[in-house]
Amino acid sequence: MSLRALVDITTPYSWIHAWTYENIVADAARDVQVDELEARFLRRLAPGARVLDVGAGGGRITAWVAERRPDLRVEAVEPAATQRARAERATRGLGTVSVREGDVDHLGAPEASVDGALSCGAIKHWPDRARGLRALVRACKPGAPVCVTEVDRSCRFDDARAFVARFPTPAVLRPVMLANFRTFVAGQSLDLDEARSLAAGAGLREVVVDRIPGSPLLLIAGLR
Ligand SMILES: C[S@@+](CC[C@H](N)C(=O)[O-])C[C@H]1O[C@@H](n2cnc3c(N)ncnc32)[C@H](O)[C@@H]1O
Repeated sequence: MSLRALVDITTPYSWIHAWTYENIVADAARDVQVDELEARFLRRLAPGARVLDVGAGGGRITAWVAERRPDLRVEAVEPAATQRARAERATRGLGTVSVREGDVDHLGAPEASVDGALSCGAIKHWPDRARGLRALVRACKPGAPVCVTEVDRSCRFDDARAFVARFPTPAVLRPVMLANFRTFVAGQSLDLDEARSLAAGAGLREVVVDRIPGSPLLLIAGLR
């Protein structure tokens, strides 16, 4: 992994960045947040709803959504070609899922065209987080749920340590993984104050900004 990708979190995902995330982190990240996604996103969607998953990566969350709710029409938007190929494989045969090239500034969805928008672990990579969140909300119809999850820069040490312990890596590597996670990932992410300020400027109502309990993640949830 190049040093630039470590110190500038907006650097586009290279294959090694994508490989590392998908093989080491993605399952743990999915598992600590699915209960919140169920409560704050899936339960608010009517049957047949059209939803965006922005920064879908290798499709770990997209596949979970399609399995939980096969009635939904899920559009996975992802800039990195290696990730899109993974997402295609992960969602093959599951519900109605399409995977397309795009990013938060090029969603390929007109204003007020979708019934819900989700983005997990991607906002820290966006070049302009406030602009990106506004774009995500704008693509939604009035009343549609929006849910963004991300590593919390202000996460508790014990939550970060427990999260890293879920990685399928030898225990001897965990201190290095933890230092890397706290410094380069959480360290360049947003904290609860920034999340509240982003949510306030994004045109959302019924906003909840909170930690995801027992994890080093936070969520921004609300309705357009
Ligand atoms: C940490 S991964 C999360 C993947 C997936 N959402 C998950 O939770 O498993 C972040 C993803 O965001 C993508 N990404 C980077 N910049 C982005 C942007 N400007 N807009 C949308 N997605 C972006 C990356 O390519 C990467 O696949």
